[in-house]
Amino acid sequence: MRPAVHAAWLPPEAFGALGSRRVLVHGAGPIVDTVFDEVATACAGHGGRAWRSGSNPPTSGNPPTSGNPATSGNPPTSGDASSVGDAPAGDAVDLVLALGGSGPPPGPAAKAVAAAGEIQSAALGDEGFLLARAAGVTVVLADAPAGLLYGLFHVVRLGTAAFDAVLAPQRHRPAMRLRMLDHWDNVAVHPVMGQVERGYAGGSIFWHDGEARRDRTRIREYARLLAACGVNAVSVNNVNVHATEAKLLTERLGDVAAIADVLRPYGIRVHLSVTFAAPVVLGGLPTADPSHERVRDWWATTTEKVYERIPDFGGYVVKADSEGQPGPFTYGRDHAEGANLLAEALAPYGAVVHWRAFVYNHRQDWRDRATDRARAAYDHFAPLDGRFRENVILQVKFGPVDFQVREPVSPVIAAMPATRLAVELQVTQEYTGQQRHVCYLGPWWSEVLRFTPGEPCGPAVADIAAGGSGAGGGLVAVSNAGDDLFWTGHPLAQANLYAFGRLAWDPRLDPLAVLDEWIELTFPPSTTTDPELVRRTLHAVMDDSWRTYERYSAPLGVGFMVRPGHHYGPDVDGYEYTPWGTYHFADRDGVGVDRTRATGTGFTGQYLPPWNTVYESRERCPDELLLFFHHVPYGHVLHSGSTVVQHIYDTHFAGVEQVEVMRQRWRLLDGVIDPAVHDRVTERLDEQLRSATEWRDQLNTYFFRKSGVPDARGRRIH
Ligand code: GCU
Repeated sequence: MRPAVHAAWLPPEAFGALGSRRVLVHGAGPIVDTVFDEVATACAGHGGRAWRSGSNPPTSGNPPTSGNPATSGNPPTSGDASSVGDAPAGDAVDLVLALGGSGPPPGPAAKAVAAAGEIQSAALGDEGFLLARAAGVTVVLADAPAGLLYGLFHVVRLGTAAFDAVLAPQRHRPAMRLRMLDHWDNVAVHPVMGQVERGYAGGSIFWHDGEARRDRTRIREYARLLAACGVNAVSVNNVNVHATEAKLLTERLGDVAAIADVLRPYGIRVHLSVTFAAPVVLGGLPTADPSHERVRDWWATTTEKVYERIPDFGGYVVKADSEGQPGPFTYGRDHAEGANLLAEALAPYGAVVHWRAFVYNHRQDWRDRATDRARAAYDHFAPLDGRFRENVILQVKFGPVDFQVREPVSPVIAAMPATRLAVELQVTQEYTGQQRHVCYLGPWWSEVLRFTPGEPCGPAVADIAAGGSGAGGGLVAVSNAGDDLFWTGHPLAQANLYAFGRLAWDPRLDPLAVLDEWIELTFPPSTTTDPELVRRTLHAVMDDSWRTYERYSAPLGVGFMVRPGHHYGPDVDGYEYTPWGTYHFADRDGVGVDRTRATGTGFTGQYLPPWNTVYESRERCPDELLLFFHHVPYGHVLHSGSTVVQHIYDTHFAGVEQVEVMRQRWRLLDGVIDPAVHDRVTERLDEQLRSATEWRDQLNTYFFRKSGVPDARGRRIH
């Protein structure tokens, strides 16, 4: 019988090394219950043994749901050691997961934990853990329950290496305190956007046709997957808050509370997208003006009720004055006044408001070449630096336009040192192939996170998002998961979700090493006849897939050129004469957007040195961003030595050839991996090849017709 849902990076086989050993979980509380539950299930499946000690009755209403009775016995009833199962005898323990403050564990594990405790030099914090070998035992120590959970999944990731006699001690703490996924899920099916806006993986796992899903097993599975890659916050509804969704804040709060109950045992907090107009649309007030006392009271009272139902509620997400959503501009107020209004209501609970910086004029006149959408976020927000309350997180898209396959880093990120900033990524592949194309985004995000927007030795984007001692706004991304059998439509798009969590935990990780982790967990060696072939093939297909997508889509950072509305497939002029502010300005002589201070929109002036001069100069601007910053003739010679138009031809031919090779490589895995995964990817690769060919032919033909320049290699252009 097929499982109802693909196990993604947590198939039972991934727990083989842990589950075949003797494991003691020491500590109390609902998240420790989760840890034990995971361990007990793994041991039941792989022949190991699980014990529990130091436990108290669960302190909240979230008992473990699937502990294996044969191994775990009855749920713990007292604070005594070894209240579950038999106490490990002699040296018979291979792994101890121990929560600090729970006293010494029983039996010989005590010695190992004490020895590991001596290695622990500094506090591990709310989510950190120490992994060490001591007295022949692998020990995970944590100061707080979530740390124990992350430590457990780290042991799973390491597999047998976690039990190496020579394992050196490792101390892990997340770089970012907030590692959050935004779901653009609608409760009621939207007539244009459907159940999930920009969703390419079926319906929502939270909502179905106007209602909250009653069966929440899928949400629990999702929570496990997220905890295993380090995500700790989820916003459960679309940033475009429509009428039904607005009510989640008030009369339908119970739906949100029910989701929070399922996510909580995995250390994940729930956040909610709210409409700035809520006092009007829900509260019946005549205004949502932040300066009105009644508006402030309404938010305070409403928020208080939220906390009565969901004591660990994470906070609000707000898209205001953006693409038709209401905001403070309606009342002549600025965005600091708007954000601070909600922050004030959340402050007593230590919660945050994620205020999105995606504010621009989406009704611009394409004839007006002076208005530049790329400038908008900086123009609106940079002057407000220092005016936001401490619990406002300004959520900034990583690029100045909109999640394109290539953009410069947004200048806002370096411009607001007195504001908590979160950097927003898009895991859902709106502009990168919509989970019909293989496009592993880890390398792209890594490039963005490592970029230093100021002096070369200054802070990188990841450091700014992390903030001093992790107090920054963190990393946020739009999720790509849905109710699809494989979670993400394209099974290989699971790697993007996994990589987001891992890079938010540690942005210095090598994205290809992260991919390797994902491969090892998702395609465990024990489940295939040729693990080496599987690993090699997946790397060959995925490592460079983002650049492959870039090669056959919009060239040299110019962006868009997608079909209007749904954004899939090529349409070079699709947005050229629209109000959306996303133009490429191709004519018979050249292409690109002049964003220089000298002759263009002045956008380059929003960057700090050295970037303000690097981007300003045609000669110094990196090739991959040339058309984002400059309008150049087709004959302009790139650093690569190629002309712009020849580069367009070459990359588009090469991109399609690379997809053909991917497709051939993938055939090698026929009969080697799960046939359902193989078939789904095969079907998607066929579509990717068709679509890439369409991109190539439209782009090459378009630029040939515009420029009249033939391909130097005489290939067929239509
Ligand atoms: C993009 C996307 C929209 C989304 C918006 C946002 O423009 O196409 O669907 O609402 O981003 O980030 O708010």
